[in-house]
Amino acid sequence: MSEATLHLGQTLRFDGDPFVDGLAAARHETRGALLVENGKIQAVGPAADLRAAYPWADQVDHGDGLLLAGFVDAHAHYPQTGIIASWGKRLIDWLNSYTFPEEMRFGDRAYADEVAGRYLDLLLANGTTSVCSYCTIHPSSVDAFFSAAAERNMRVLGGKTCMDRNAPEGLQDDAKSAYDDSRRLLEHWHGRGRASYVITPRFSPTSTPEQLEALGALWAEHPDCLMQTHLSEQLDEIEWVKGLYPQARDYLDTYESFGMLGEKGLYGHAIHLETREKAKLREVGASLIHCPTSNTFIGSGLFDMAGLKSAGQIVGLATDTGGGSSFSMLRSMAAAYEIGQLRGTPLHAAELLWLATAGSARALHLDNSIGNLGVGMEADFIVMNLASTPAIAQRSSRAKDIWETLFSTIMMGDDRAISETYVSGSRVAAKS
Ligand code: GUN
Ligand code: ZN
Repeated sequence: MSEATLHLGQTLRFDGDPFVDGLAAARHETRGALLVENGKIQAVGPAADLRAAYPWADQVDHGDGLLLAGFVDAHAHYPQTGIIASWGKRLIDWLNSYTFPEEMRFGDRAYADEVAGRYLDLLLANGTTSVCSYCTIHPSSVDAFFSAAAERNMRVLGGKTCMDRNAPEGLQDDAKSAYDDSRRLLEHWHGRGRASYVITPRFSPTSTPEQLEALGALWAEHPDCLMQTHLSEQLDEIEWVKGLYPQARDYLDTYESFGMLGEKGLYGHAIHLETREKAKLREVGASLIHCPTSNTFIGSGLFDMAGLKSAGQIVGLATDTGGGSSFSMLRSMAAAYEIGQLRGTPLHAAELLWLATAGSARALHLDNSIGNLGVGMEADFIVMNLASTPAIAQRSSRAKDIWETLFSTIMMGDDRAISETYVSGSRVAAKS
């Protein structure tokens, strides 16, 4: 049993989805509090009320710091940590030139351990407390990821990337070994501590129909697991998929016809969707994951956030490290804003913050546990410094409300804006 601790500061939480309910979905307290005990949030509300109700609790006063749920990164590739910000290639050449050679190194468990630890520490420094990551084809890369997360007590999701064609020799499995290895890893890791296993075919160009079918069977046997893959990221990729699957109606159909479409499916990028694909994704309630820094960095295109959200699609936000050019969800929010601007539909600060927390948690089917400050939620939260640099301080000093203040940190902030990160109620990262 841990001591009850009352964290005092500004607080921001969500009662709903601001894309649907507007600003009424957001609850900001200038002087609020969180009561944390046994790794969970036991109470939340105005500081004066909680102080009076829990006089015995230890108190930690964060002053003007903003208490917010830890960020949830709904799509990343931890093995690409070392090749982030690699210059000059579009998707297919980028995979062949930078990604695949780096992913080959993860057969070495010691290297996988080193990168997994470094990656998760970078996330915590950036205020991200949960991530849904691809590993490599090597089962040991999955063990390294979940072990590093368990050492830090983080709620993470991930799985072995499956590929049995169009990848270098040494980075391919086959339909049977992909099924067998994924099943063994799933049985070992899914639900162990805070880990969730995610069935992970990389994308239809690197899987044979036989492999997709085998993984579709595995998913049907474990319907409580999520499945993650990539969908309609670049135009060249879509043409390639049409050539590889001549019978398919569209890109989504290459998953659908092998049992790889469902409510618990996560489809990364989803930029160039056809009308049928959008209707089908919405009908099944699948999650689309927006990866804005990646989509601009690799030159993929402009995700239609406003159109997809107003049609009722479920959308999460992600870095897509290392196609994405930053580990920071603040940077991802800024890029999502800029893409919205290019489409003529700017996103509000409340919408951006919701996407990076409760929205991504919803997309990952974890919104009852993480991504918000609510009674009974796991105590994964951050303290944000809303004046972390002179540039931000001078802009927020003339802000007329909390949204303008937050927007200057969203657009100009980085890891310096994350004063402290708490996982399960314990402080795991802090700026000196
Ligand atoms: N499509 C298939 N694999 C990848 C990957 O590693 N990164 C990105 N951005 N897109 C992909
Ligand atoms: Zn990806």
